[in-house]
Amino acid sequence: MKIMTGNSNLPLARAIAAYLEIPLTNASVRRFADEEVFVEINENVRGEDVFVVQSTSYPTNDNLMELLICIDALRRASAKRITAVMPYFGYARQDRKPGPRTPISAKLVANLITTAGADRVLAVDLHAGQIQGFFDIPTDNLYAAPTMAADIQARYGDGELMVVSPDVGGVVRARALAKRLNNAPLAIVDKRRDKPGQSEVMNIIGDVKGRTCIMIDDIIDSGGTLCNAAQALMDAGAASVTAYISHGVLTGAAVQRVTNSALKELVITDSILATEATRDTDRIRVLTIAPLIGEAMRRIADESSVSSLFD
Ligand code: R5P
Repeated sequence: MKIMTGNSNLPLARAIAAYLEIPLTNASVRRFADEEVFVEINENVRGEDVFVVQSTSYPTNDNLMELLICIDALRRASAKRITAVMPYFGYARQDRKPGPRTPISAKLVANLITTAGADRVLAVDLHAGQIQGFFDIPTDNLYAAPTMAADIQARYGDGELMVVSPDVGGVVRARALAKRLNNAPLAIVDKRRDKPGQSEVMNIIGDVKGRTCIMIDDIIDSGGTLCNAAQALMDAGAASVTAYISHGVLTGAAVQRVTNSALKELVITDSILATEATRDTDRIRVLTIAPLIGEAMRRIADESSVSSLFD
């Protein structure tokens, strides 16, 4: 097997390569003066099982284009099988039509990746599991939950844990984490706006008084959802609130918002390269998922079970 990478998250690609004890494929993914992406693979990949590691995070469109062009270059170089390894799958939130005359961009991106020549996709905590079905090629969706659960046990295992979903849509994810934490109890933050123009009211379903609350979600973007939910939980008597989030999108003033929030700590994975602001605050901690992705890649290459990673 060979591992190639675009420029979106070089530290993660290097960590995966180190886990697998395989050097990164010698390739250059660069720009022409007008910002066109140009890819050159500097070693033979004919007949190889090649994994391209690239998160389609900010700058989303540039990183997506790098991925597509890497895949095209590999296909034209006669790679036997090409797997797009997407620790973060950008556009995943556009997975349905929120209104008339709107796109389903997640499906379009899936089509682009397939048309470019990918044979398989490996993703992590897809925003919605159904996105797997947007691809007509095999797609594995990995879960960061086991990595998070181990960290939660080590850091917060002494407290009276309560897993919290920051919205009604995240209950399945929260329940899966709770199961890994010896069936910890579950609470849900229910956001309601009774009338248009009225401010949102946060109702907590479940008794969080005195509890060490662990909020789980797939994405933190502006930070609004989590910071508001953390405040509501503290107001309801929680002992502390920590958030575990798979993908730290963290746009705009998100890092500042987290730093000023009621969150004890925000824990994200390295699916997206951390910005300087993220690295500079001690309120945000990054867990690596390189071993998880590397192990899944090894199993795909060996044609052994990936799902058993989560048993
Ligand atoms: C929404 O469905 C996602 O799971 C996240 O809750 C959302 O993307 C977070 O966005 P923000 O941080 O901007 O509130």
